[in-house]
Amino acid sequence: MSPTIRAHTGADRHTMLGFIHELQKAERAMHESRLPGDEVAELCYARLLDQGAEILVAEMAGEPVGFVAGWLDEDDDPLQTDEWRRHGYISDIFVAPSWRRRGIGRSLLQAMSARLQGKGARRLRICALAANQTAIDAFRRFGFAPFEITFDKPLS
Ligand SMILES: CC(C)(COP(=O)(O)OP(=O)(O)OC[C@H]1O[C@@H](n2cnc3c(N)ncnc32)[C@H](O)[C@@H]1OP(=O)(O)O)[C@@H](O)C(=O)NCCC(=O)NCCS
Repeated sequence: MSPTIRAHTGADRHTMLGFIHELQKAERAMHESRLPGDEVAELCYARLLDQGAEILVAEMAGEPVGFVAGWLDEDDDPLQTDEWRRHGYISDIFVAPSWRRRGIGRSLLQAMSARLQGKGARRLRICALAANQTAIDAFRRFGFAPFEITFDKPLS
């Protein structure tokens, strides 16, 4: 059964805060840099709204089971060609754990891709923690390839 993908509305606030909380919790379990979900969920949601992000919600039998958010973005790096600077940026994607591996993430990516392409995007960008192998596998399967890699080294 395929999910229904629909635009987010103000009535999704409570659900969205829960999803963002869970997403942040999952990333915090993978990397110490991430703050606790309950500290950042409100802020993250407010930033998506302020940004004017496209937010799409996936439903199964009328129940929200995931979301994706993104917008048209432009890197300020003057060393990149215009084609590479302008892109559709997918900032967040989340599927509730009990609904994973059923194609819902792919449906959300497809829907956001079509939405951003319709607004003029000619390429898409998305990020994942290096430790998030599941997300990396899902993004590669969708056709994403690594572009830039950020390295970190703590200084004593
Ligand atoms: C990443 C995420 C959105 C994928 O959602 P999903 O609905 O499970 O993904 P799909 O079922 O559409 O899977 C699409 C492809 O991704 C790959 N994939 C997904 N989960 C995988 C896993 N656990 N192991 C290996 N490959 C996986 C597969 O190639 C899969 O295609 P296939 O089933 O035809 O083999 C989901 O795991 C999630 O919400 N993770 C927590 C939040 C997160 O890390 N978000 C990314 C950072 S913003």
